[in-house]
Amino acid sequence: MLEISHLKKSYNGQPVLRDVNLTLAQGEVMAIIGPSGTGKSTLLRCVNFLERPESGTIALDELTVDAARATQAQIHALRRRTAMVFQNYNLLRNLTALENVMEPMVTVQRLPRLQARRRALELLDKVGLADKADFYPRRMSGGQQQRVGIARAMGGDAKVILLDEPTSSLDPELIGEVLAVIRQLAEEHTTMVIVTHEMKFAREVADKMIFLEDGVAAGEGTPEEIFERCGNERIRRFVRRVMDQ
Ligand SMILES: Nc1ncnc2c1ncn2[C@@H]1O[C@H](COP(=O)(O)OP(=O)(O)O)[C@@H](O)[C@H]1O
Ligand SMILES: [Mg+2]
Repeated sequence: MLEISHLKKSYNGQPVLRDVNLTLAQGEVMAIIGPSGTGKSTLLRCVNFLERPESGTIALDELTVDAARATQAQIHALRRRTAMVFQNYNLLRNLTALENVMEPMVTVQRLPRLQARRRALELLDKVGLADKADFYPRRMSGGQQQRVGIARAMGGDAKVILLDEPTSSLDPELIGEVLAVIRQLAEEHTTMVIVTHEMKFAREVADKMIFLEDGVAAGEGTPEEIFERCGNERIRRFVRRVMDQ
């Protein structure tokens, strides 16, 4: 479903992603872990060209895009096939929960409003927010806002949902409700790439994990391989430190 090959990205001549390779099959969940500032967000943002990679290829669904030569039409096609869930939710403040979920359906997929509304209501129900459809973001908790963000991501034609630290802005007591929604998506075999520091959760939902460090995948494997049989001392130390927090 998703194959990233030899992805490179620098900022001001400083390499952030040096040679990133990963593959993800349909219905799989990948967790990306690693220290702060190693390019985890950059990697997710390169997949849909929110950041433009310098080189490498991104293959998604039937589309293959050579980053160095990507056309606007290809970038647009990639964006339609991905959806992003942001650390800070990125909801539109002047739209209700329902309107936020409808927004990409109407503007990107060009669904008729009535149909978009019906689908958005179903999705809000699915994330447990049917009763908040007419609430504006400022009247919702962080956990509720993030669940709206996830409903919005589920509403498009995305082949893969990219989640960038979806719970790291939340108060501890609100993390569980968001993880529960993501867990449900994983159980339904939604293809996802999740950057997270929630190690227990990652271990539970991920089919594959990548430890990103110094611009490359310094470790890669099943959660079991990463957590238990990992021969890399730095990964072990990182995992232990994050788990202890
Ligand atoms: N738009 C940008 N301009 C310049 N440098 C950036 C930009 N975005 C990220 N960086 C730098 O790239 C590195 C990786 O950042 P990021 O992908 O956000 O890391 P992570 O998500 O793993 O914490 C950091 O050193 C960061 O300062
Ligand atoms: Mg980040």
